[in-house]
Amino acid sequence: MSAPSHPARSPRRWLVTGGVGFIGYHLSRALLARGDEVVVLDDFSDAPYPVAEKRRNARDLAAEHAHVEVVEGCITNRDVVAGAVAGVDGVVHLAGLAGVRPSFKDPARYARVNVEGTANVVELARAQGVRNLVFASSSSVYGNATPLPAREDAPAIEPESPYAASKRGAELMASILMKASPEIACTALRFFTVYGPRQRPEMAITLWARAVLEGRTITVFGDGSMRRDFTHVDDIVRGVLAVADSAPKGYRAYNLGSGAPIDLAGLVAALGVAAGRAPLVAHGPVPRGDVDATFADIARAHDELGWSPQMKLTTGLASVIDWVQKHPA
Ligand SMILES: NC(=O)c1ccc[n+]([C@@H]2O[C@H](COP(=O)([O-])OP(=O)(O)OC[C@H]3O[C@@H](n4cnc5c(N)ncnc54)[C@H](O)[C@@H]3O)[C@@H](O)[C@H]2O)c1
Repeated sequence: MSAPSHPARSPRRWLVTGGVGFIGYHLSRALLARGDEVVVLDDFSDAPYPVAEKRRNARDLAAEHAHVEVVEGCITNRDVVAGAVAGVDGVVHLAGLAGVRPSFKDPARYARVNVEGTANVVELARAQGVRNLVFASSSSVYGNATPLPAREDAPAIEPESPYAASKRGAELMASILMKASPEIACTALRFFTVYGPRQRPEMAITLWARAVLEGRTITVFGDGSMRRDFTHVDDIVRGVLAVADSAPKGYRAYNLGSGAPIDLAGLVAALGVAAGRAPLVAHGPVPRGDVDATFADIARAHDELGWSPQMKLTTGLASVIDWVQKHPA
């Protein structure tokens, strides 16, 4: 047998916080599938959706990869985080409270988990000598004031919700902590509305897919002209892996989005095609905190990470329909 032209990549041990959530499940699975070791830290909280979904993700991960280690604990607990980061080579920090609308009901909890929790993870990982930190930020940091397509060098100082403010706060916290540690690669990934199988059940695409398949009316906020840059979870996972493998040293933020926003009316029509049924649509008021449009400029991720989204919306929506059909609520 001839020798491989490149040396094999040595297996690595990762802490994935939020590893039994929607994106965390897919990311943990991808790391395990390529031979890396994964420790998951997750508090299995019931926010912003029922814990049963997270238990299912944990069960499915363990069924496929018997050696996955799952630690049940909270990222605001310093002892728990210090224990979880011990001995890992890298951290992908996805744990957090997601969701714009629920963040108005409990802003202090969002600040605690998303800002204090991120400060703990970054600070304690750095203290343990971890050199590779990746964490989930959000397109929501751009608010309504950022010119579109949104670029990472925009000031992002006018968030529209406590959730967005907490994500921007987490970014600022990480960037200031990293000033003293330029040898560490610390990367904020601004995810743009992520969808796919196992998506959080309260998010529009999965919620609407269930309704369309069951012949129920879906409620579109506003007149259908709001635009969102929907990004399939497989593309997000490829982006996280690209950063995990080759992030530059220092603090850096990247947009991970499709770069091809679609309005909600267009999304509903595409969902109807994927489901093979005509959607029944009603309209409701736009909730507080929802931005008018999200639209990622993805040039930085392309130029510096070699990443670009691959999934077509039609194929991505079909993957959600398939998941929903096989997993009744
Ligand atoms: N899904 C999206 O469209 C999207 C977009 C932008 C940013 N994000 C961010 O990406 C990350 C993952 O999002 P997701 O959609 O998979 O959400 P998710 O809610 O499915 O996953 C988050 C996980 O974090 C865990 N968690 C929450 N609070 C915790 C705490 N205090 N300690 C430990 N674990 C805790 C939850 O139990 C959950 O399993 C989040 O930080 C979210 O804000 C998601």
